[in-house]
Amino acid sequence: MCGIVGYIGFRSAADVIVEGLQKLEYRGYDSFGVATSNPHLAVYKCEGKISEKFEKARELHGSIGVGHTRWATHGVPSDRNAHPHLDCTGRIAVVHNGIIENYSALTRELKERGHTFLSETDTEVVAHLIEEAYDGDLRAAVAQAITHLKGSYALLVTAEGHEEIVAARDSSPLVLGIGDQELFAASDVTPLIGYTERVVYLDDGDLATLDREGWHVYHHGTPVKRAIEHVDWDVETVRKGGFPHYMLKEIFEQPKVFYDTFHGITPESLPERYRRPSEITVVACGSSYHAGLVFKYLCESTCRIPVRAELGSEFKYFTPPLKGIVMVITQSGETADTLAALKKAKAYNCPTLAITNVLGSTVTRIADHTLYMRAGPEISVAATKSFVAQLAVLMQLVNLMSPKSGLSGSLERANSAIDEVLLQDIGRAVEICRPAEHLFYVGRGLFYPIALEGALKMKEISYIHAEGYAAGELKHGPFALLSEETPVVALCSPGDTYSIMLSNIKEMKARKAPIIGIGARGDRELIDIVDVFLPIPESHELVQLIATSVLLQQLAYQTAVALGRDVDQPRNLAKSVTVE
Ligand code: G6P
Repeated sequence: MCGIVGYIGFRSAADVIVEGLQKLEYRGYDSFGVATSNPHLAVYKCEGKISEKFEKARELHGSIGVGHTRWATHGVPSDRNAHPHLDCTGRIAVVHNGIIENYSALTRELKERGHTFLSETDTEVVAHLIEEAYDGDLRAAVAQAITHLKGSYALLVTAEGHEEIVAARDSSPLVLGIGDQELFAASDVTPLIGYTERVVYLDDGDLATLDREGWHVYHHGTPVKRAIEHVDWDVETVRKGGFPHYMLKEIFEQPKVFYDTFHGITPESLPERYRRPSEITVVACGSSYHAGLVFKYLCESTCRIPVRAELGSEFKYFTPPLKGIVMVITQSGETADTLAALKKAKAYNCPTLAITNVLGSTVTRIADHTLYMRAGPEISVAATKSFVAQLAVLMQLVNLMSPKSGLSGSLERANSAIDEVLLQDIGRAVEICRPAEHLFYVGRGLFYPIALEGALKMKEISYIHAEGYAAGELKHGPFALLSEETPVVALCSPGDTYSIMLSNIKEMKARKAPIIGIGARGDRELIDIVDVFLPIPESHELVQLIATSVLLQQLAYQTAVALGRDVDQPRNLAKSVTVE
């Protein structure tokens, strides 16, 4: 949560930072702020989205600065609580992503020593701690200040009359961009795209200085060398490219994303020790958890290996007995609960495997082995192409674990199936969902996690209350809620569960619920009993699963647009949840 950007170079720092923060808005968007030093410190910060209110921030002069876009944790979204936060003298500016857990005690002590606080945030203590330690050496002052902090932080600090930015990281992501006569620091690489392809990923415990002469990294006080890595994300990948929303653009990228990711995982990608584990524990959050559930169904039935899927937020506190390997799935590679689970698995000495989209992300540094999705940057808060890319990795993984399954060949048609559903007119289904206050999504077997994911997509961007259920479970309670005002989206693909799904749909129909049925093109039996039929191509069950996922993304997207919602940045959410 929260995005930070720092710049020192020859351009207007405010321009670079404002542009960079807009690319990081997916991390939080309730308020923002920028500080530049020219050589006096100038600050602009306010409640609201930077993409809507950036004009004044761009008026700040100077070629050194730091900025922040916020997802509130301590203190409501407001001008006062927006970052940067300053010390009592107004000469030191701090932006922070993470949580300072011992801030209450620190605030009390600092107040006793005479400091005045202007915000309710946990971050402000950092500015005052630096103030106490500062005697003209900013690096030393930041190094001293962070010894008092407990919790997580990615910090950028600049001081008046000081041509330097000091960056520090512990348990929150931070990357440096190395340009020609200019240096950047940011929460991830997206603000750097278009300026430089040379990046340095900082480790926990690193402190870096960026000045006119260059950059240096210290690890717990000792100078260290950090490798420059190359990022080849194209500038077009972080633009909307003619689409009204990032989400729609990302939905339309899925045929290529599936193909690239599926073919990007080869036999060489998976070391022997991960091929026949006695058991697999999958840990993830949000959409990534739903992808993990698909894997459970698929791997257990195909490879006959027991798989347990756990939520990251639960795993840390209620760790089951662990055998075999632990696999974490995370688009961003930064989700705090998933990382905590991974650390726990390592403490149990389990071999760990990560699936992520982001090169150099924290998860890749902790896990024993990483498999990469090839989705490119996903900007919209709602996961779409990253979910499909996760499915591609997981299906390929099952294929590698059980080469005789023939999965690889069956999935060759997946991209054309996605193409096919992308062009479908779903207007009548949108008309049913749009006025609804409650929706149910039901499926069985492999399609149960897809029902969960479809409902999640709908609720997060349209704000309609949507619940995903295993179709057989509806009778155990939710049936009490069914009426002509409670539409049900039923996922009914051919396979072992087809006939029982048809019976379930008839039972729901008998309670007057309008049914949007998704099934194979030309399925007369289904067409005859549902109110609206959305066809998916007749194909292998897994191809249908992918096509259904894409169709449900479209249903959520078009319903949210029809309701006038902020599709890319839904209220109260953030894409990268870096706090527990
Ligand atoms: C947030 C995002 C979701 C995502 C989840 C897990 O809640 O809004 O789209 O599925 O985090 O994120 P991860 O990066 O770990 O996959």
